[in-house]
Amino acid sequence: MAGNKRIAINTGGGDAPGLNAVIRAAVLSAERRSWEVVGIQRGYQGLLDTEYSVPLTRHSVRGIAHLGGTILGTSNRGDPFGFPTPGSDGEIERRDRSAEVVDNFHRLGLDALIAVGGDGSMEIADKLSRLGLPVVGVPKTIDNDLAGTVATFGFNTAVEVATDAIDRLHSTAEAHERVFTIEVMGRYAGWIALYAGLAGGADVILIPEIPYRIDRICQKILERETRGRHFSLVVVAEGAKPLDGEMTIKGARQGGRGEPVLGGIAERLATEIHQKTGKETRSVVLGHIQRGGSPTAYDRLLALRFGAAAVRVIAEGLTSVMVALDPPTVRTVPLAEATRRMKTVPLDGDVIHTAREMGVSLGV
Ligand code: F6P
Repeated sequence: MAGNKRIAINTGGGDAPGLNAVIRAAVLSAERRSWEVVGIQRGYQGLLDTEYSVPLTRHSVRGIAHLGGTILGTSNRGDPFGFPTPGSDGEIERRDRSAEVVDNFHRLGLDALIAVGGDGSMEIADKLSRLGLPVVGVPKTIDNDLAGTVATFGFNTAVEVATDAIDRLHSTAEAHERVFTIEVMGRYAGWIALYAGLAGGADVILIPEIPYRIDRICQKILERETRGRHFSLVVVAEGAKPLDGEMTIKGARQGGRGEPVLGGIAERLATEIHQKTGKETRSVVLGHIQRGGSPTAYDRLLALRFGAAAVRVIAEGLTSVMVALDPPTVRTVPLAEATRRMKTVPLDGDVIHTAREMGVSLGV
């Protein structure tokens, strides 16, 4: 592809700190090539209605790299291959509206779409590219669970926020001689729990990849008691589960397809730990605080690199790929590769070894 282009960018799925930095870098890099950029609002939903497209210029992206959220808005209910639509009986039906997306893409006179998102958004990007749309993906998620890239932006910020919270809980736990169970996000992967737990000096770290035994957790807490350490911090990923049980589910996603909303494991553990050890135990759920606010410098830079790389890739005529971090560089991987599997914590990795060697309990 050569010459002037008109490209679009959207941000889909749950937000992550760094989305605005991607938008800024993509717009500035495109403008420097004399291309036009169209911002698609509300994720893929915005491609179902041309009313949700706005021109993006250097003025629209001024001073936004450090801001959380996304100036384009996002949605995790806008899958055009299964768009939720009320049927005649009032029940929600899933309609395939992908043909409308293709039509609108052409109606807007677009040459390519930069789709910024997590696994769900990359799957949609892959399907759209199979329908002939030139799409380049940009990986975001605080969960860090996307394959094909060493890191997603948003993860570092979530780890910083969680580590700060663990540090704060440390002093109050010690002052009151309490146990705290601290629930962090991450869905079915334990990246946030492991990284923040280790950095924050947790005594027990529970991740979905290693089903836990409650007796082992209590053993660690009681062992600390014998050493005069009358408080303990248990960092638990929302997707962690006992060896003989299931994940703790709060309910189904509102307006979703019955996808479970994880949550409640910290409370459940606090009750069990108190019953088994007699220690006063409090639970804390960090929740969406991990996703809000300003991205760290690391995430900002990664997001800027991804945004510029996505435009570079389009200039080189490459599509159906996702930009990916492969230190020291940013490369591309086929969209299909990024969506093939979930990236979970490797149990033979050095971070797990570090935790074990430092005597941190992983609940087994
Ligand atoms: O994928 C990001 C994430 O924050 C997960 O860690 C969490 O399980 C989920 O999204 C929460 O989703 P929602 O914002 O829909 O509550």
